Amino acid sequence: MPITVNDQKKLFRLDAGNSTYIMQVRENGYLLHLYYGSHISDSDVSHLLDNHINAAFSPLPPSRESSYFSLDTQPQEYSCNGAGDFRISALSVKMPNGSTSTELKYASYKIIDGKPSLEGLPATYVNCDSEAKTLEITMEDTLSGAEVVLCYTAFESLNAIARNVRIRNTSDALLKVDRAYSMTLDLNRADFDLIHFHGKHVAERKFERSPLIHGIQSIASKRGSSSHNHNPFVILCDKTATETFGEAYGFSFVYSGNFASDIEVDCFDHTRVIMGINPTDFEWLLSPGDFFTTPEVVMVYSDAGLEKLSHTYHRLYRKNLCRGPWRDAKRPILVNNWEATYFEFNSDKLVNIAKDAAELGIEMLVMDDGWFGNRNDDHSSLGDWFVNEDKISGGLDALVKRVNDLGLKFGIWFEPEMISPISKLYEAHPDWCLHVNGRDRSTGRQQLVLDMSRKDVRDYLFNVMSEILSSSNIAYVKWDFNRNLSEVGSELLPPEQQHEVFHRYVLGLYELLERLITAFPNVLFEGCSGGGGRFDPAMLYYSPQIWTSDNTDAIERCYIQYGTSFAYPASSMSAHVSASPNHQTGRATSFKTRGNVAMAGAFGYELDLNKLSVEEKQLVKEQVESYHKYYHIINFGDFYRLISPYDNNYYCAWEYVSEDKNEALLTFVSMRVVINHTYFVRLRGLDPTKIYVDVATGDEYHGDTLMNAGLRLKEWMGDGSSIVKYFKAKE
Ligand code: DGJ
Repeated sequence: MPITVNDQKKLFRLDAGNSTYIMQVRENGYLLHLYYGSHISDSDVSHLLDNHINAAFSPLPPSRESSYFSLDTQPQEYSCNGAGDFRISALSVKMPNGSTSTELKYASYKIIDGKPSLEGLPATYVNCDSEAKTLEITMEDTLSGAEVVLCYTAFESLNAIARNVRIRNTSDALLKVDRAYSMTLDLNRADFDLIHFHGKHVAERKFERSPLIHGIQSIASKRGSSSHNHNPFVILCDKTATETFGEAYGFSFVYSGNFASDIEVDCFDHTRVIMGINPTDFEWLLSPGDFFTTPEVVMVYSDAGLEKLSHTYHRLYRKNLCRGPWRDAKRPILVNNWEATYFEFNSDKLVNIAKDAAELGIEMLVMDDGWFGNRNDDHSSLGDWFVNEDKISGGLDALVKRVNDLGLKFGIWFEPEMISPISKLYEAHPDWCLHVNGRDRSTGRQQLVLDMSRKDVRDYLFNVMSEILSSSNIAYVKWDFNRNLSEVGSELLPPEQQHEVFHRYVLGLYELLERLITAFPNVLFEGCSGGGGRFDPAMLYYSPQIWTSDNTDAIERCYIQYGTSFAYPASSMSAHVSASPNHQTGRATSFKTRGNVAMAGAFGYELDLNKLSVEEKQLVKEQVESYHKYYHIINFGDFYRLISPYDNNYYCAWEYVSEDKNEALLTFVSMRVVINHTYFVRLRGLDPTKIYVDVATGDEYHGDTLMNAGLRLKEWMGDGSSIVKYFKAKE
């Protein structure tokens, strides 16, 4: 039973997988957090409450249960602003009298089979009601009339709990939500390391691990997107935690806009985590009867290190977040023309690439940026989504047919949310971009951002994109987004709602995506934001794969894909073989290693196939064949980070193991040669009793030997070299 309630003691207990989460309503009506961690048998663990801390200077509420009961020291289930808890708070509601002092007391609860969807928001879901149960606890602030429903979905067989809140105005007056995080978690210890994933364009999701410090640490974005700079995902783990040992708590925010993940360690060595929409430039007006729903946070607990944490996220996001036929269907191996041609292409050039692609076994051609309006560089035409027949002679349908006739599917690039000041759309609708009247409009990559909070803008985009997608046999859309938001104002909203624009933008984006994937259910959507600038779980709800980074250098990708793998499954990470020397780094890497590294995700090519040598073409054929052979292991198996590229900066290794543990694929990459050295790696996740054959050499090992004693690699490994070993269990 994932949810049990002791009505007498007002204890709420969630059992998600082998994790337990307990909270209790105290006699004074406050909802306190008692426990989150490995399964425990007792539910009444109220002895854990610290009722004897003398919080001198911290105010005590009149309804205190002991002379030491202060909201400032008690573990709150959902922390509020201004009523005596001085730590970071999740909720602040402004009343008509201007006060933001907010206080919630328990009202009621209900349990729902399965998991309700979040209206207008991406969220995890259940495939059948038996997969999870949802607990909704209603809290109320009687003075302001704010009613807050705390929602918890506990997944039956995964250590995962999805949380969000719904705030309703039950008063007769206007309320203003000042901040509404999606969750609070108070833990009664502080000896944690914080792991998070920071970065920049072409260097996303760098792994960083450091001990928590007293005070507040914030991992956040105010850019209007989840961003290259910080991913909406953090981990707290034991200082001694490794891949396979120790406790770890993950917090993953299913949202693509401004977010904040704030962690505070207080003077009593308690840790508070809050995660949600970034309160900077956020406010939400609630008319009487209206409600506001926050996006959800997916919390995952692991009692066995970071690997188990990742496996839980991978399973959940693969099966309970990604949707549509492409969630499980085999995705096509594609060739994208961006790094092959940039803007310099026409139909014949694309068809020539497609001809080679067809011969080599590649299954789809993707036409990237530059096919529309008058776009021959990045100075113009975003918004003018009509085909440039100077380049695409005879029109799109003619090109698609030529490509289809070669046996390839056809995919197309859009950057729907943008508008170039040099475009027909801007001439017609200069007010359609985000802007603040009287201020200059800052451009990024020479472009402005459309106001996605506007229905007329979204309708335009839906119509113009639908026209293109219905005009020919288009199998795939790459949805790009190449700048962050500034001068965030909307022409249609009154002054008192201008702070809603950031969030309304994101809601508008989700609405448009939903309309399009509903209208074109068989089209495979791939997310992109200058590479991985919007690599978040919310985008996976609409597009099961995301372009991981604009950095296609195989060595750099070892780091980027490593960081990405902590929350996101291999099936979500697009990875392509590109030209050497690499266009971003200038580094030369062997064709083989480029293939081995790109095979760690949704595989493809991003180079001019016409320029490949005979030997390279042969390698493409072999890579394509291997990817087909290993597809199910990579995309549906379990992923193991065996050697981190950060551990030594010289080499790294990872492994996939098929669900039935009969197959394993080991990849080892030497990023920089270590002189006079041989390498050693220990595998994981195998069946210790099975005998595995190294299919290339015929060598046999027991699973326990490969995992406990390990494998000495005999190959010489120079700069940028790599090996892949495929192991198959004997019948
Ligand atoms: C940024 C993307 O990440 C690239 O792959 C490419 O599509 C360019 N935009 C095109 O402008």
